[in-house]
Amino acid sequence: MISKKYRFSGKTIECFFDAEFAAIENLVKKENTIFITDENIFAKQSQKFTGWKTIVLKAGEQFKNQKAVDEVINQLIEMHADRQSFIVGIGGGVVTDITGFVASVYMRGVKFGFVPTSILAMVDASIGGKNGIDVGVYKNLVGVINHPEFLLYDYSFLETLPAEEWVNGFAEIIKHACIKDKEMFAFLEENSLAKFQSSFDFTGKLIEKNVDIKYNVVTNDEHETGERKLLNFGHTIGHAIENTSKLAHGNAISIGMVAACIISQQINEFSGSDTQKVKELLSKYQLPISLNFDKEKTWNILLHDKKKSGTDMSFVVLDTIGKGSVKRIPLSALQEIFNKLF
Ligand SMILES: NC(=O)c1ccc[n+]([C@@H]2O[C@H](COP(=O)([O-])OP(=O)(O)OC[C@H]3O[C@@H](n4cnc5c(N)ncnc54)[C@H](O)[C@@H]3O)[C@@H](O)[C@H]2O)c1
Ligand SMILES: [Zn+2]
Repeated sequence: MISKKYRFSGKTIECFFDAEFAAIENLVKKENTIFITDENIFAKQSQKFTGWKTIVLKAGEQFKNQKAVDEVINQLIEMHADRQSFIVGIGGGVVTDITGFVASVYMRGVKFGFVPTSILAMVDASIGGKNGIDVGVYKNLVGVINHPEFLLYDYSFLETLPAEEWVNGFAEIIKHACIKDKEMFAFLEENSLAKFQSSFDFTGKLIEKNVDIKYNVVTNDEHETGERKLLNFGHTIGHAIENTSKLAHGNAISIGMVAACIISQQINEFSGSDTQKVKELLSKYQLPISLNFDKEKTWNILLHDKKKSGTDMSFVVLDTIGKGSVKRIPLSALQEIFNKLF
């Protein structure tokens, strides 16, 4: 087990990498701890929950809403949870988002920790302090910024992670490589999904690298005025596509990253051969690189994106592979490129 401390303003989080889940007994007291997980993880990893008070959520983004929060709160009341209780969210990003939110508001806040179980939660959702729920079509509209006490990484959870969720998680890893780390990009080129799936030790090292990347970006810009925007690479067009096409998040942002590379070529001297490299890497990790989509509908959704202001839009482009930057692009220019995509 490797222990590492990550410091945010006003909070230090301890990360336990390459840990065994059973070590949680050393971090929390069984009598006052309540686990929150979802039905898939509870069914597939049931032995890990034996002897612990556990709230089991319905799995899936469609249940990341206020109704789920109310249900959790009712169960906490039934379990006599009080200010001394400790809540641990064990799951993907849906579980960690709901857990962080509920723990922050129940009795005006109780302590909590995360055990992320999907690649996406390990490298992205559980880091940075954002915890939110969806309201209708509005994703993460309601939430809080609050950090867990600890993150515990037990890579054996990955044994039961469905193949498509590996792919979704690797979309965010490739995003990190594109905006911040050309060596990691090359490392991903040299390896493959099958190789990572066959060795959790090997994957663990990659996950730790990605936690560092996300942590550094977030702490350089805790109030999201600059650097943190880089994490939106591929997400502006990606979210609009996710909305209109019902593609999984990782697949939609993969298309979004290709689109952002093409836009980077046109407005930022990013090279065509580098766009090709990004496309090849995405394909290598089973992510789609083009899509026939409804341009008008998608553009209209994109216009409602919160990053738009006035006549231009803040958009993440690449300077080179491994270096992203935020540019303001006139909407008319962006639309012209957008209409010719794919
Ligand atoms: N708070 C943030 O900063 C932040 C950042 C990125 C994403 N998110 C949120 O994260 C969510 C997406 O996270 P996700 O992709 O982990 O989704 P998820 O929690 O829905 O998990 C994906 C699927 O994998 C299953 N699963 C997870 N781990 C498993 C395991 N070890 N074994 C078997 N099945 C497992 C889940 O049951 C679910 O069906 C979104 O709601 C998104 O908004 C939050
Ligand atoms: Zn994402």
